Amino acid sequence: MHLLVTGTDTGVGKTFITYNLAFALKRKGVRVACYKPVETGVEELPQDGVLLSKATGQPLHEVVPLTFKLPLAPYSATLEEGSEVNLEFLKNGFYELVQRYDVVLVEGAGGLSVPLLKDYDYSDLAKDWGLELLIVARATLGTINHTYLTYTYAVSKGLKVKGVVMNGFKGEDISERTNPKVVYERTGVEPLKIPYIQGMELEGKYLDKLSSLVGL
Ligand SMILES: Nc1ncnc2c1ncn2[C@@H]1O[C@H](COP(=O)(O)OP(=O)(O)OP(=O)(O)O)[C@@H](O)[C@H]1O
Ligand SMILES: [Mg+2]
Repeated sequence: MHLLVTGTDTGVGKTFITYNLAFALKRKGVRVACYKPVETGVEELPQDGVLLSKATGQPLHEVVPLTFKLPLAPYSATLEEGSEVNLEFLKNGFYELVQRYDVVLVEGAGGLSVPLLKDYDYSDLAKDWGLELLIVARATLGTINHTYLTYTYAVSKGLKVKGVVMNGFKGEDISERTNPKVVYERTGVEPLKIPYIQGMELEGKYLDKLSSLVGL
């Protein structure tokens, strides 16, 4: 099984969750790789890639094969920087990892409908690569709409949603109390609640919850 870790938005915690899920699976003896096919907003080193390669021990170039300088959706970056995303190249990198690992965690950029080409977004990539989805959503106000839209878009594209992670609970926003229940009622998927913590490493009980969310 290989997963696309997508988000309801940019900055919701895709890298944070992918990083922790990679540790969680390693603890279970699963051979796990991370892959961020395109990282944008890269001046020197791809920062998501640096974290993900730290989690798995892979070399950085294997985790992030393609970068753009501008902090834009991949397709938008190609418009500004005058190039095109080569899907075959990205897919070859993915299939190399599939040969060597039990699970490949693919991190998207932004959300599910973010385009890599004019008419090709991350939902198309998930379909073509045979990826199941992990949707990372924020805990706070706005998440009902974003999560529902992401979920229904995924289902409309024939994708399987393995789980929803509601990330960054601080207990400061009153909507945090009811968001998981309402998302469950609207989608039939019970979100896994992950707290906001200091630093990057979730404690063991959350690692266990993450691995069981993906059935491992
Ligand atoms: N549960 C959490 N506890 C503490 N910090 C968090 C948590 N989730 C995310 N963060 C922090 O919030 C910031 C944004 O998260 P992250 O980079 O994982 O988002 P992203 O969805 O991967 O963004 P992008 O679209 O840029 O890839 C990071 O600094 C990350 O370490
Ligand atoms: Mg990220």
